[in-house]
Amino acid sequence: MYYPEEVIREVREKNDIVSVISRYVTLTRRGRNYFGLCPFHGEKTPSFSVSATDQFYHCFGCGAGGNVFTFLQNMENISFVEALQQLADEAHVTLPETEMSPQEKARLERRDRMREANRDAAIFFYTQLTRSPYAGAAREYLAGRGVSEEYLKKFGLGYAPIARNALAQYLTGKGYPETMLRDLNLVGGEDGRTYDRFFNRVMFPIFDVRGKVIAFGGRVIGKGEPKYLNSSDTELFNKRRNLYALNLAKKSRRKQALMVEGYMDVLSLHQAGFDNAVASLGTALTNEQAMLLKRYFDEVCLVYDSDAAGTNAAKRAIPILEQSGLRVRVMQVTGAKDPDEFIKANGAEAFEELISKSLDPVDFELSVSNLATVDGRVETLRTMKERLMRIEDDGERELHIRDVAERLSVNPQTLLREVEEARQTAGMQEYQEARSQLVRRRDKGMGGLEKAECQLLSLMLHLPGSRPKIGELIHEEDFQPVEGSEGDHAPASDIYRQVYRYLQSRTDREVLAADLISLSDTEQDQPRLMRICTEQIPEDRAGMEKLAAETIRTIRTVSLDQALRRAASVEELQSIVEQRKQLEHITIHF
Ligand code: CTP
Ligand code: MN
Repeated sequence: MYYPEEVIREVREKNDIVSVISRYVTLTRRGRNYFGLCPFHGEKTPSFSVSATDQFYHCFGCGAGGNVFTFLQNMENISFVEALQQLADEAHVTLPETEMSPQEKARLERRDRMREANRDAAIFFYTQLTRSPYAGAAREYLAGRGVSEEYLKKFGLGYAPIARNALAQYLTGKGYPETMLRDLNLVGGEDGRTYDRFFNRVMFPIFDVRGKVIAFGGRVIGKGEPKYLNSSDTELFNKRRNLYALNLAKKSRRKQALMVEGYMDVLSLHQAGFDNAVASLGTALTNEQAMLLKRYFDEVCLVYDSDAAGTNAAKRAIPILEQSGLRVRVMQVTGAKDPDEFIKANGAEAFEELISKSLDPVDFELSVSNLATVDGRVETLRTMKERLMRIEDDGERELHIRDVAERLSVNPQTLLREVEEARQTAGMQEYQEARSQLVRRRDKGMGGLEKAECQLLSLMLHLPGSRPKIGELIHEEDFQPVEGSEGDHAPASDIYRQVYRYLQSRTDREVLAADLISLSDTEQDQPRLMRICTEQIPEDRAGMEKLAAETIRTIRTVSLDQALRRAASVEELQSIVEQRKQLEHITIHF
């Protein structure tokens, strides 16, 4: 860690964890804590808790946890330093200069350079499209699809020339190493031969939310296979975490986002004045994309193609969006294959009308179900129960249950009861499963000694008054370094010593779990710090004192046994044996 502790603390204090996490997760207050659906694993009942007093979050389901920095690191897939810089920026804290490790600096420089390469590639494609005499077919193709000059520019569309190494030559000429171009998925080819990945295609640059080019999609001109070619995931691009055109849509004044299937749909909607259209990137909608949308919108209207694939995509997308706290509507595009075609045939006003006629998810589900036969209704009843039980608001749920009961001609009381029962068992099952999984994972590879170390440190963290007394009975050398686990080549870590030293040097002030988490950001240490912060300790004083005595005994025994093996004189031996005897009788009163 290269930034001084005070600065890290200042940035943390100026960024309340509840408000930062609220940008990603819908939180509801329950007692002293806030709860929501965990953004780090899929779940239907909230087991993700955020504590305003500890400035700490923890998921009882998957075990994720930490402070405001680790949250951003995991959410945005960025490093500690990047998270710190982002939050410092937002809180108008000026960070001291040059406090960066050489590796961190090299990593950031490489990322910057890669972003520049992508930007230069986009400019190259754009220049080709607008200037090259060989781009006639591409220009005609786009004109034929009704793309105006203005929107061609706004979306930065381009043309990848037919020559198979035009881009590679251009970019290596600008000094980008070929390996970097490979890492960016701009060039490919084997045995030392290099080829552009995209050639003779209309290019759609993919921007991240901040408007940086992170990838490309390329469409064949006219017919051909594959119709679209997309960048695979790179250091800059994860298709599951980005949405096409969100960089533009986020500025829309509309409160609702339009979620469509393709690049061209997005383009024609924007051009028709629907600047709130976005598309997922050649994948089914993901949880991460839903969370991303939630940052800018409260409601999403699904505008999928009017075929079976589109209907299924909508069915799958609904629960994912709802879990992120978004309201969902589903549009049925009638009389056209997709929104692009619809707009061209019927115009923007007709499309606006389709939006206003979009269905809520329950009605959508009913509308695509077969209600003509008893079998069909039984099947529908089953899927509807699944859906109804997920409606969180009690009143809303009841209204929908009554409506569905009426439309399927079943007794509303029966359906009401069944849905409530299903809700309870689902919730319990998920919770119990998650809990036992968590305990299993947490205790895996942690022996009794390490457990004792965590418990003692947790006690010291939560009960500052215990620190002086504990300090009389145990010292930082008594805590064992932890070896890197087998297989990974992680070096040994003295994290428990560090924590002990940290807590003992602050007997006079409160330490938050959130501060402890920042002591180390390595992959080996993070779960250990987490464990210290979340370890359950007794609530009564007697229980705490008993726990302290027991854990001190465990830790000191191991430490004295080691000393015994190293002892060089008879006197030393005797002294250690004596100390071991005394251990049997230790008591502690805070
Ligand atoms: N897609 C893809 N790879 C393919 C086909 C489709 O990645 N081989 C993705 C693209 O993002 C595309 C979206 O899925 O925009 C929707 O596919 P499709 O409906 O086939 O494409 P359209 O957008 O309708 O394409 P166009 O209108 O250009 O024919
Ligand atoms: Mn289309």
